[in-house]
Amino acid sequence: RKSEKLDGIWNHHADVYDTCLRQEWFTEPRKDGEGWTLPWDWDFDQWDTINVPSTWNTEQEQYKLFEGSMVYTRTFKYDVDALEKVVLKIGAAYHNAMVFLNGTFLGYHEGGDTPFYLDVTEHLLEDNRILLSVNNTRTPGRIPTIFTDWYNYGGLYRSIELFRLPKSFIREFKIALVPGSQFGKIKAEVLLEGSADSAELKIPELGIIESIKLKNGKGSLELTCSPELWSPENPKLYDVYVTAGIDSIQERTGFREIRVEGTQIFLNGTSIKLKGVCSHEESVPNGKSVTNDEIRENFSLVKELKGNFVRLAHYPHTEQAARIADEVGILLWEEIPVYWAILFENEETISNGRQQLTELIKRDYNRPSVIIWSVGNENPDTDDRLAFMGGLADLARTLDDTRAVSAACLWDQQKMKIDDRLASKLDIIGINEYFGWYNPHFDQLEQFFANSNPDKPVIITEFGAGAKAGHHGGRNEMFTEEYQERTYEEQIRCFEKQDWIAGITPWILYDFRTPVRCNRFQQGYNLKGLLSADKSHRKLAFFVLQKFFSRWKVR
Ligand code: GCU
Repeated sequence: RKSEKLDGIWNHHADVYDTCLRQEWFTEPRKDGEGWTLPWDWDFDQWDTINVPSTWNTEQEQYKLFEGSMVYTRTFKYDVDALEKVVLKIGAAYHNAMVFLNGTFLGYHEGGDTPFYLDVTEHLLEDNRILLSVNNTRTPGRIPTIFTDWYNYGGLYRSIELFRLPKSFIREFKIALVPGSQFGKIKAEVLLEGSADSAELKIPELGIIESIKLKNGKGSLELTCSPELWSPENPKLYDVYVTAGIDSIQERTGFREIRVEGTQIFLNGTSIKLKGVCSHEESVPNGKSVTNDEIRENFSLVKELKGNFVRLAHYPHTEQAARIADEVGILLWEEIPVYWAILFENEETISNGRQQLTELIKRDYNRPSVIIWSVGNENPDTDDRLAFMGGLADLARTLDDTRAVSAACLWDQQKMKIDDRLASKLDIIGINEYFGWYNPHFDQLEQFFANSNPDKPVIITEFGAGAKAGHHGGRNEMFTEEYQERTYEEQIRCFEKQDWIAGITPWILYDFRTPVRCNRFQQGYNLKGLLSADKSHRKLAFFVLQKFFSRWKVR
């Protein structure tokens, strides 16, 4: 859909005590009942300015490590049309946000990596003031919780848009190849808000024009056709058009099938190796508000590695990442930040986890590049965690039966093998292991693999070692490039012997900011990248991985 963006210059002010909410600045009380001018404590239009979208940490030095509430506000003119419904889309607000329009509270959203929508139809005027209070304070019940090995950015860091809709509009549209249909069936689903008894589906390049019957606004259609299949080697995309009543949308998507059988992963019927790498959503100049060019650069680095896969860690990256992966042919693992010691028994946390996963799947359902939904990372194997993450795995399958469900699990250090109760709820087992780094014994890796006997595919979702770019020394000297190079060589030597390793995503494509890493080499960065943080320097391990991906095949 076309949209009217509210991106650009906004006014903003740190609000450490949430005074804006307490004293209802958003209503701009100027006069009391008797017309007495009330002394006021804000001056929205005279406040400092900030670019939206951006993270406040990278925009202004004094907010580099700021944690708290930031009030964002701007005015805008709007050409109101009484026949239209208008929806406001906040691309992402880290980590939660309260939204006000013309003095009215519209809604609250918690979850810093997924879009949310508000119906603003009744509140829009010709001259408007929008105000958000955005808060990135880390709290125990949050997802992610208080302790993470990445930077706690804050802000309105993805686009803010207004959509004009007819009163009766297409709320959701999902389309995908029907799994197990020998690539010969497509299923389309429409959810309409409003009244229409059918929708029209058009895929011109496939000669498809079909009517989808709607009952109470819902309808689906399975149709026989054999589209050219999407793959990393051939990222074929089709333009799809859906009309219902006077509303119409356009989608650009591809058709492919991902399937697990035994310990292998099949793409379009062929067993494949997922030759990948992990990536955070971060760049040196823009923090978490990465640009499309920066995303394209990351994917071209993966192609240079002879890779076909990226684990977008540890949270939903911008939807642009999946759209660009669709175009350039990269397979994706997408994840919600159920990371480390989440309050698994806390009701609000449980419902927020389900909300974030639902928002991610609804956002990216039509992206052929996305093949795996991950429900979390490195969580202790407790009963509460099994209930929480097992419930998320079931939810993912309910929302989407066309993709695999996984999680990055820990291995059992007592039994020296893969043995996580959550694995029974997963299609693919992710395993994070750091033999040669956190665990000093490379030789134990061989034993660990020999002890493990998984009945489903395993992706080694993390391994690696820290190395300061350009710092050279002995192969036993930590934080040298040679040490990292040796770690990759030793790890890869073991991978090649295990057919049940269907993929690897070493940690990590490039160095990234974290307050956790403070030694003289790290200085606030995690140095396990294959490249320096600014991606100007390829470390020795980059070429070890590239060589492996060039030869690694299904045996
Ligand atoms: C963990 C974790 C990463 C972290 C990495 C590390 O496995 O999943 O988020 O950055 O190890 O220690 O570098």
